[in-house]
Amino acid sequence: MKFLVLAAVLISLGALVVSQSHNYAWGYRGPYDVMLNRTIAIKSSSMLQVKTMDLVYPLKGQLGRNITAINITDQYINGKGGYASLLSGGVGFNQTKIHLKSQRGNGFNFIVEIYGR
Ligand SMILES: *[C@@H]1O[C@H](CO)[C@@H](O)[C@H](O)[C@H]1NC(C)=O
Ligand SMILES: *[C@@H]1O[C@H](CO)[C@@H](O)[C@H](O)[C@H]1NC(C)=O
Ligand SMILES: *[C@@H]1O[C@H](CO)[C@@H](O)[C@H](O)[C@H]1NC(C)=O
Ligand SMILES: *[C@@H]1O[C@H](CO)[C@@H](O)[C@H](O)[C@H]1NC(C)=O
Repeated sequence: MKFLVLAAVLISLGALVVSQSHNYAWGYRGPYDVMLNRTIAIKSSSMLQVKTMDLVYPLKGQLGRNITAINITDQYINGKGGYASLLSGGVGFNQTKIHLKSQRGNGFNFIVEIYGR
């Protein structure tokens, strides 16, 4: 019985932590897909400010491969992390532009991974 209660507490804590991160996943990473780019995108917080960052793939002058999946992991687990959206391209395209945006008065710390073939 004690064990069951403990398990229930741990599970609900786990759910809480998971739901506090703003993770994003687009597409499906197949067995032959390789990582095309991995970026750790960090902005520190400034009072009352919204911080943004745009990541582009591929870099200017480089050839882009076909994107099959994009995985963005929020390293803030307190719900204060930022938000991510795709401004262009993405899964099924050979380029993408990812927009990262903090909550007002907060920074962000994302791991952005792009997979493709
Ligand atoms: C990955 O993308 C970032 C953001 O566009 C860029 O700064 C970085 O140079 C890229 N890394 C590689 C290995 O292309
Ligand atoms: C992306 O694909 C289009 C055709 O779908 C091609 O014209 C273009 O050169 C490709 N761009 C890169 C950067 O590979
Ligand atoms: C990317 O996708 C296009 C259209 O589906 C295909 O013609 C092309 O061969 C693909 N490129 C690679 C490197 O797989
Ligand atoms: C996305 O990244 C997270 C954390 O790095 C990892 O646990 C998860 O398996 C990844 N998902 C995919 C589809 O690669």
